[in-house]
Amino acid sequence: MHGPTVHDDIQRVLFSEEQIAQRVLELGRQITADYADAVARGEEIELVCLLRGSSIFMADLARAIKLPVRMDFMCVSSYGNGVHSSGMVRIQKDLADDVAGRHVIIVEDVIDSGLTLKFISKNLESRGPRSLEIAALVRKDLRDQADISCKYQGFACGDDFIVGYGLDFAERYRNLSEVCILDPKVYA
Ligand code: PRP
Repeated sequence: MHGPTVHDDIQRVLFSEEQIAQRVLELGRQITADYADAVARGEEIELVCLLRGSSIFMADLARAIKLPVRMDFMCVSSYGNGVHSSGMVRIQKDLADDVAGRHVIIVEDVIDSGLTLKFISKNLESRGPRSLEIAALVRKDLRDQADISCKYQGFACGDDFIVGYGLDFAERYRNLSEVCILDPKVYA
């Protein structure tokens, strides 16, 4: 076993590798229970991963769901290399699958302003899915967040800049095993 991340740029570990693993298993169990009947009826689940940040969460969550799932990937970006959302969401790579008639679960790493999910939910809803839900690893507890209904939420946190377990700052730190608070000196 490795110890916790020790890194000059990290202020502290917010969610440990063990906490994340536990919570992802719980979310997987919940999703398995919620969709078992639908799958038994022959309906399909489509996990839609929003690249790049959600790639690691997607890989773990998909394996925690004990039902057949399809997996597809969409690359969206709103932050560029900055700290704040630009509010402009761009689809850089669209899905390969047609999600019409399928139970879509959007897999997202973090809900910050909520602008990404607001945009993508509306976009996917227009494609005629049988149902549409959101699974987010972390939701920031912010007053001015967009109104998003997230059925499967891993954790909540404050307005700190978090990295790790897929989350980056300027494309760094994605491969940390924990979710960590970045030292403000890094982006000051
Ligand atoms: C980040 C993150 C979410 C989004 C959340 O993506 O991965 O997708 O921002 O922010 P919001 O709720 O304020 O919209 P980013 O655009 O940085 O791309 P990435 O996934 O490649 O890191």
